[in-house]
Amino acid sequence: MPIERVDTTPYADQKPGTSGLRKTVAVFRQPHYLANFVQSIFDTQPQLAGETLVLGGDGRFYNREATALILRMAAANGIGRVVVGRGGLLSTPAVSALIRKRGAAGGIVLSASHNPGGPDADFGIKFNVANGGPAPEAVTQAIFERSRTIDGYALVTADAPDFDRPGTSAFAGLTVEVVDPVADYAALMERLFDFDRIAAAIRGGLSVRFDAMHAITGPYAAEILARRLGAGADAVINAVPSEDFGGGHPDPNLVHAADLVAQVMTAGDGPLFGAASDGDGDRNMIVGRGMFVSPSDSLAILAANATVAPGYADGIAGVARSMPTSRAADRVAAALGVLAFETPTGWKFFGNLLDAGQATLCGEESFGTGSSHVREKDGLWAVLFWLNILAARGEGVADVVRDHWRRFGRDIYTRHDYEGVDSGSADTLMGELRGRLGDLLGTRVGSTEIAAADDFAYTDPVDGSRSERQGVRILLADDSRIVYRLSGTGTAGATLRVYMERYERDPARLEDETQGALAGLIAAADEIAGIRRLTGRERPDVVT
Ligand code: G1P
Ligand code: ZN
Repeated sequence: MPIERVDTTPYADQKPGTSGLRKTVAVFRQPHYLANFVQSIFDTQPQLAGETLVLGGDGRFYNREATALILRMAAANGIGRVVVGRGGLLSTPAVSALIRKRGAAGGIVLSASHNPGGPDADFGIKFNVANGGPAPEAVTQAIFERSRTIDGYALVTADAPDFDRPGTSAFAGLTVEVVDPVADYAALMERLFDFDRIAAAIRGGLSVRFDAMHAITGPYAAEILARRLGAGADAVINAVPSEDFGGGHPDPNLVHAADLVAQVMTAGDGPLFGAASDGDGDRNMIVGRGMFVSPSDSLAILAANATVAPGYADGIAGVARSMPTSRAADRVAAALGVLAFETPTGWKFFGNLLDAGQATLCGEESFGTGSSHVREKDGLWAVLFWLNILAARGEGVADVVRDHWRRFGRDIYTRHDYEGVDSGSADTLMGELRGRLGDLLGTRVGSTEIAAADDFAYTDPVDGSRSERQGVRILLADDSRIVYRLSGTGTAGATLRVYMERYERDPARLEDETQGALAGLIAAADEIAGIRRLTGRERPDVVT
């Protein structure tokens, strides 16, 4: 089959953010835009030649077109084999698992994660390396550099091969293997967790509702939760992936999964356990009757109870959390005598720690938890881990959380997001803060004062690489904390994220309502950074 070399000119905006290149569909549909980026991957990753590449996405609008184009380009660029999910579908953790299982040299994930989908919404592409995880910064930087000078790309002129039926075929020297997106992933989950025990608990009355949010985890949850664990078809709602996620916002949190939260939280005939996942299946939300589990707590609770799951029966080596994630996990690590790590935001920073066997569990406050079984966060994995814990302890979510707080204390936690803020104002806010770090020391905040303030920088303990300017941390003398950073995943304007937490040990106050319990800190966060003054916003758009 003939190969064509297409002349192109660079786009200036192909710098990957926190998690790959994320733009509106309109941007991706500009002439040669996606091809330029894909060619930049192939040009800078010569180790892919002759080797296996895993390819799949979350099924959002443009997924199919992108899959077809990448197959044609992979063939023209000497890739040996592409393992592609049927229909171009694979959840992000399933891509990671397949890369590892097949010894692939890398993978491409087509997703904008929790961002809305559709012709007027977002699309994204992310390159993962041979360990199954997102490419580290040096790699994404090299891809970006290449995209700035690219002048041509190669593709096979013929139409892409069919990727809707499982099986292996040859396409211009490339082997194309179409796989069932769910099978390998489900087998991996069955090795990690005690399916018999979970199924018995479900038969015994542990009612489950999982909201797939019209996104990729629908087929996975239908197979694993509904069928293998016997929760029944009704247990999985919004189970059919759609190109625009049913017009919704596939982000499992208190705002976008509010219906599910309401069904589970309130007494009545609703389910006892609720969970949801995002567009590409790597995020999770856990909620039980009368108890929403903050993601930071979830990480700590998984760590404290890890050994109930067969895959973690020998214990964990360490726990890693992103900097803005609460310090609840650190307390568990200290009690267990295992390592604890604080990394910049973004899953790519966990890869080295997992590869080196220094961390077993990782988590972010942004509804992300995962482990050494793959190199991405994993939504359904977290759900199954919770079910395994509930089944093993014979308790509900609220009992497990309350018991955890009694043992370790509670890191009362919230994140306030100001979305679509004018970029200039957001930069001014962060710039002013950074410029005043030294002056802030000793500033009174309510009954306490600022004890430390810095711009978080991280030196990777495994490869020594350095990442700077990862967010401003304000530590108060009473051990409360405020963190400010700008989102690296948005596609319009800037999103300011403000993270606030306070450690509470008083048994009488462990269940205080979160926003009320943090009111003083919330006011201080505004005062210190001038949020209202500089953004013109009276209140955050999303509170989680
Ligand atoms: C957000 C989250 C971050 C997560 C990323 C990808 O990034 O805050 O924890 O790793 O999405 O899911 P941000 O928009 O804050 O840069
Ligand atoms: Zn995601």
